[in-house]
Amino acid sequence: MARSEVLTTTTTADDLAVEASLRPQCLDEFVGQPRLKEHLEIMLGAARQRGQALDHLLLAGPPGLGKTTMAGIVAKEMGVGFRVTSGPALERAGDLAAILTNLDEGDVLFIDEIHRLSRVVEEVLYPAMEDFQLDIVIGKGPSARSIRLDVPRFTLVGATTRTGMITGPLRDRFGFVARLDYYAPDDLEAIVHRSARILGVEVSGDAAAEIARRARGTPRIANRLLKRVRDFAEVRRDGTVDGSAASEALALFEVDERGLDKLDRAILSALCRTFGGAPVGLNTLATAVGEVPETVEDVYEPYLLQEGFLQRTPRGRVATPSAWAHLGLEPPRRESGPTLFP
Ligand SMILES: Nc1ncnc2c1ncn2[C@@H]1O[C@H](COP(=O)(O)OP(=O)(O)OP(=O)(O)O)[C@@H](O)[C@H]1O
Ligand SMILES: [Mg+2]
Repeated sequence: MARSEVLTTTTTADDLAVEASLRPQCLDEFVGQPRLKEHLEIMLGAARQRGQALDHLLLAGPPGLGKTTMAGIVAKEMGVGFRVTSGPALERAGDLAAILTNLDEGDVLFIDEIHRLSRVVEEVLYPAMEDFQLDIVIGKGPSARSIRLDVPRFTLVGATTRTGMITGPLRDRFGFVARLDYYAPDDLEAIVHRSARILGVEVSGDAAAEIARRARGTPRIANRLLKRVRDFAEVRRDGTVDGSAASEALALFEVDERGLDKLDRAILSALCRTFGGAPVGLNTLATAVGEVPETVEDVYEPYLLQEGFLQRTPRGRVATPSAWAHLGLEPPRRESGPTLFP
């Protein structure tokens, strides 16, 4: 399957530029996630009152729900610098040491994909997070010696799509672990309206609702669908983004009424048609749809699980009755043995 056809995972350079312009800059502009916002407001307020750096913060959740956005907001709200790096970019302990020693007091250091930090780098991070100290080894062999350096009091904000892959010791060093949830349609509708205003697109209430309904609970996808619908309205209509333009455009881009894209449906179709309803292991399922297992697990499955289309069982993934119904298929009847759907 051509990657460019799948709206969920494909990111173009233009998307990135627009994404930056659509990013909320302060907590007030951040739509949804009320509990997380409330917790953060309290933590930020307390840290500001004490004149201290904010506690380290771990943000977990599927792609596109606002982890990077929230990290930037934390820095803005604290009025401190924002440094960005990622787990895979920090190859050696020295890479992290260089960043830490260059921070200013109170800065936010954002480490994206923190579950992909190497073991050695992670071990350098522990004392830095806990005591704001860095142990570095200078030289090699018998003449090697270890020196201890102070680093500025900083706030680490880590982001991960897989909480399960964060080691216990690392997770324990965060003062606050927040999970971002998929957004409700109302919140996504507000995000579509906000983005439309910024992009200078006029969007009817119907169109915003339609886009929100089909955005897989994800602000990034809502913004992406908005742009595709705008394109469609400009080329095929008189530029008016109304409900009918939205549903026609989304059908054209193969996003269905439940927000599932081609790959979502390929997964369900593999479970129902190819494997006939039997439990399927992650690797087999990924191969069947031509994706890597991590993407299937981190990007696609969480939404299918939440929407009740898929179940994870000890023997593998199975499609639920709603998945069969969504594909317009009859689930197989089991004559004997354990029922698949208790
Ligand atoms: N709560 C929100 N309100 C308004 N817009 C949002 C919100 N959350 C995310 N967005 C929009 O969605 C886009 C993607 O968000 P962001 O890059 O922060 O996601 P992420 O969780 O870091 O994703 P990834 O895991 O892929 O890095 C942003 O450009 C922003 O415009
Ligand atoms: Mg991000």
